[in-house]
Order: sequence, then structure tokens, then C-alpha cells
Amino acid sequence: PVDFIAKSPKLKLHVLDQLRGASVLSAAQFDKDLLCELAKFAAYLQLKRFDVGHAMDDKIMAAAFFEPSTRTRLSFESAMLHLGGKTISVADGKTTGVAKGESMRDIGQMFNSYADVVVVRHTEQSAVSEMCEYLRVPLLNGGNGSDEHPTQALADWYALLKWRPEIAWASLPEKFRLNIGIIGTPGNMRTVKSFLMLALLFHENINHITIFSEMADPLGEELRELTKNSPIGIDFSQNLQQSLEYLDVIYMNAIAYLGDGYRFFGDAFSLNDKSRLKDDTVILHPLARGEELDVSLDDTQHNLYFNQADGAVWIRQALLLAIFGRVAEVVPAELLA
Ligand code: CP
Repeated sequence: PVDFIAKSPKLKLHVLDQLRGASVLSAAQFDKDLLCELAKFAAYLQLKRFDVGHAMDDKIMAAAFFEPSTRTRLSFESAMLHLGGKTISVADGKTTGVAKGESMRDIGQMFNSYADVVVVRHTEQSAVSEMCEYLRVPLLNGGNGSDEHPTQALADWYALLKWRPEIAWASLPEKFRLNIGIIGTPGNMRTVKSFLMLALLFHENINHITIFSEMADPLGEELRELTKNSPIGIDFSQNLQQSLEYLDVIYMNAIAYLGDGYRFFGDAFSLNDKSRLKDDTVILHPLARGEELDVSLDDTQHNLYFNQADGAVWIRQALLLAIFGRVAEVVPAELLA
């Protein structure tokens, strides 16, 4: 994180304050400035530069997960506990009134009394907007069906910005710009969709994005519209193995379609330590992994996926502090711009 901070140490309070009281439903809510300030704030938190142990003493977070999760629920809970806050959790939606037909709208109404912020995951895309109908505290989308996973995308880009901080700073000469490969179908995979949406913000420093998918239309209508004016070259391929020699970043994902429906694309879209990767290629994967990402890559320089998961705790702390307007309380005045 040190390099990422060094270039521009001050945190822009007015930028982070855009998140004050906000729900985070989509990656589309972030521009480059906000994403980079949040990542810088997370880097300071990861370096333990600020005393945040009591920053959220008076706050309760509800983590309501109607679909299984290891990282998202527990890293949000860990983030809140790091900040001195308290958490209440639904680890299995079947233990709630949903089992008796209760609506997400009514559960949202209840959360107004129980918590100051709610993190929700659900197999259905509509669940988040339904809960928002009655909810009056911020809602953080922890993955809604095949739609979006915006805070995962924040963790993805936090990992990439620590790996290559210069992506955030300037327009790089063409030979240093990134070629990114996405293995999956952004049109119906929430993590790759949110990742791609944030990638578009770094168009000055991304040459090319290749989407490796067996689907005829991997983008779908919404992303086709979002990407059509981007200066980044976006193309589609089924030849991952032949393309490895020019990819700097590979984003993999095993989760497809609805909720937990895992789908293995086959060996053609798999990587292991024998894959012909460039020496400096990094691999991102939101995890949980399937057969597509072999454990033989774990102890190689290509593994950015553990760093990506680790960073989620810090970027989620930064997000919570910004949403509760606590940035100026924990950051010394001389580091605020
Ligand atoms: N990255 C991610 O969403 O992981 P979980 O399903 O474990 O939350």
C-alpha cells in the first residue's frame, strides 16, 4: 500500500463525503476519483496509520445473507468489528421469516429498527430494490443474483491499484497500458460485470479487454450500451490459452447464472502453473474457486487473488467510515485535502 499512498498522500474529504449516507447498489456509482480516494483510505487503514478501534462504537451493521458466502459476509463483519462497531447476522435466509413467505420489503422495514447499515446478498436480482422500498438506512449490495457485486469490484481494484499504483495517476505510454482478460460472461455474472464497469474508469491506462466466454453475447444489452463509447478495445474470444502471452491481468470467476450455480467452462478456460502466462501476469479471482483455478498457482507470483480477498477487509472499512461520515474523525487534519 505504501507506493499507492506516496504519490499523493492527502485524502480528498469532499470526494469521500460523496458516500455519506449512501447505499451502494451498483459499481456505476463510482467514478475514478472516488474509487482511488477510497482505495488510498483503505491503504492507510491497512497500514494501521489511524486509530479507528472505536470509530463505530455506536453503530450496528446487519449482514443479511440469503445465499451462502464466506468472504463478503465475514469480511464486512470483520471490517465492522475492526472499527469498534457491532454486527447482527443472517447466515442462512431460511432461518428468517422468508421461510414463511415474508417479503424483503417487510424485512427492510424491520432492519430500520435493528441496524444502522445493512449488507444484503440474495439469489434474486430484485431482492435489493425490494428491500430498499421500506429501508431508510444505507444498504450495501453484497451480490444480487446475476446482477452486481459492487463492493467485490472495489476489492478487485484495490488489489490492482496496490499492484500497479500508476494506473491511478497518469496516462501511461501505450506499452505500459494493461491488457486484461476476463474469463466469464459479464452479462450474467455479477462479479465480472461490476469489475468490468470499474475497469471502464481506467480507460487511459487499459489497452484492451478480451472477454473469454462460450456465450454468443457475453455483454448483454446493459453492458453493450455502457461499453459502446469506451476507448478501450473490447473483444471476445474462446482461445484463452493462445491469448495468455499478451494478458497482464486475468480475471477469473466460477460463479455463473443464478446465485450459487457453479458452472465449469472446461479445461480451455482453466489455468494452472503449467499455463503459458507472462512472468508478470497477475490473476484475480473473487473466490470461491472451482476447477478453473488450480492450487498449483497459489505459490506463484501470479497469485493476486489472496491479496484481493485480504484487501476486502480494508476497503470495506474505508467504505463504512465514508458512509457514516467518519473520515474526518479518524484521519489527522494534515492528511486531509
Ligand atoms: N467474493 C465473494 O463474493 O465471495 P463469497 O461468495 O464467499 O462472499
